[in-house]
This record gives sequence, structure tokens and C-alpha cells, in this order.
Amino acid sequence: MIEVAGLGKTVDNGGEPLTILQDISFSVMPGETVAIVGASGSGKSTLLGLLAGLDSPTAGDVRLDDVSLSALDEDQRAKLRGRLLGFVFQSFQLLPSLNALENVMLPLELAGFSRSTLGPASVSMVAAASEWLERVGLGHRLKHYPKHLSGGEQQRVALARAFAPNPQLVLADEPTGNLDAATGQQVIDLMFDLNAKQGTTLLLVTHDEAIAARCGRVLRIQSGRLVG
Ligand SMILES: Nc1ncnc2c1ncn2[C@@H]1O[C@H](COP(=O)(O)OP(=O)(O)OP(=O)(O)O)[C@@H](O)[C@H]1O
Ligand SMILES: [Mg+2]
Repeated sequence: MIEVAGLGKTVDNGGEPLTILQDISFSVMPGETVAIVGASGSGKSTLLGLLAGLDSPTAGDVRLDDVSLSALDEDQRAKLRGRLLGFVFQSFQLLPSLNALENVMLPLELAGFSRSTLGPASVSMVAAASEWLERVGLGHRLKHYPKHLSGGEQQRVALARAFAPNPQLVLADEPTGNLDAATGQQVIDLMFDLNAKQGTTLLLVTHDEAIAARCGRVLRIQSGRLVG
């Protein structure tokens, strides 16, 4: 599902080269759940950005579903993301001008709502998005805007949005980082539950060793290098 070879990222930091990631190589098989753990500033979010093709490496390559990201242009990478990927961020990143239902519908619209796993073509996007919000316990909040939802509710909308198009791969960057412990636990339980039911490949950045231990495998990153 993911193949990373010799990946590196060096940026120009006021005339001085600053290496953020160096010589990162690993692969992830379809259906695996993998945690990425490391101290603040170790390069976890940068790595996720490179895996998603949102950022370009200065060395090495990422292959997603056997497609080399470096061989694609911006548009092709965006299409690949739409086809393969769901994202969950620490800061939820819902669109403030769209209500919960519309936020979940957005990736379905972008995906053309064409994947057979979504059901017969007659099932409307509204129905599919509503059903997803019901699955995350927000069937009573369809028309609420993000600012009128709690943090935990916003993250549940974000989970519905990430999983609704039935992506092969979900990338999550500290999805509970902005939530209190109890709410974070509920969100993480829900994410693992959706992941298991959908058979998604999951890459999860976390500071929390207990959450990491729930993943099939843990990758440790230290000062931009994989250390285990
Ligand atoms: N464009 C950039 N220019 C300069 N430095 C950068 C740039 N992007 C990231 N960095 C630096 O690279 C390092 C890694 O950043 P990154 O956000 O990947 O860390 P992280 O492991 O996700 O940290 P956290 O756990 O705090 O989210 C940090 O020291 C950061 O300041
Ligand atoms: Mg980060």
C-alpha cells in the first residue's frame, strides 16, 4: 500500500540547510495499522505530508498503491489522493461554511460518488453522508455548523468525512491531540472500529503509547530518522 525508499526532506532555513527527515524507508501492507511515534519536532507531520503528496521530498520516493508520487504532477497527485486517501487532523479541519452533512458530502462529490462499495448509484450522496454521520453518533447534528459542535463532535464529523468515500488508506495526525482524555478515547475507539469494519490501511501519528500499542506495528522517529 505504501512504499517509502530513502525519503529525505531538507529545507532552506535562512541560508542554512536544515534536514527534517533523512533516509526514511519502510513499507506498509494493505490492511495494516501502523503508529508513528516520536518527540515533538521529530518530523512526524512532515512525513505524513510527504506520504500524502502534499509536500515534495528532497530525496527518495513514496509509492502509494504502486504509483510513484514523484512521477505525477500536482493534478495527478490530487486525483490519486481523492481516490486513495482519507485524512484526519489534530485540528479537525472541517470547512466552517459547510454544515456537518455538507462536510461529509464533499469528498463523496470529489470522488464522483462512483465507487461500487458505496452502494447502488441510486443511493444519493445525502443519504450516504447522513448514514455516515449516524454511524459516528451524529445523526441528530446533520445541519450543525462546525462552530456549533464540540471538539469531539467535530472530530467525529472528520472521521465520517475521512471514511465515507471508503478510502484504501487513512492518514491521521494526532487525531486526539486537541481533545480531553475521555473524548479522545471515544474518538480513537471509533476510529479503530471504523478502520476494522472498512478494512482500511491506517497510519496514525500519536504521542500516546497506549494508542500506539493498539496498532499492529509502531514506527519510531527521532530527529528525522527511523529508529525502530
Ligand atoms: N518548511 C519548514 N521550514 C523550516 N523548518 C520546518 C519546516 N517544516 C517543518 N520544519 C521543522 O521540522 C521539524 C519537524 O516538524 P514536524 O511538524 O514534522 O514535527 P512533528 O514531529 O510533527 O512535531 P509535533 O509532534 O510537535 O507535531 C520541526 O523542527 C519544524 O520546526
Ligand atoms: Mg506534528
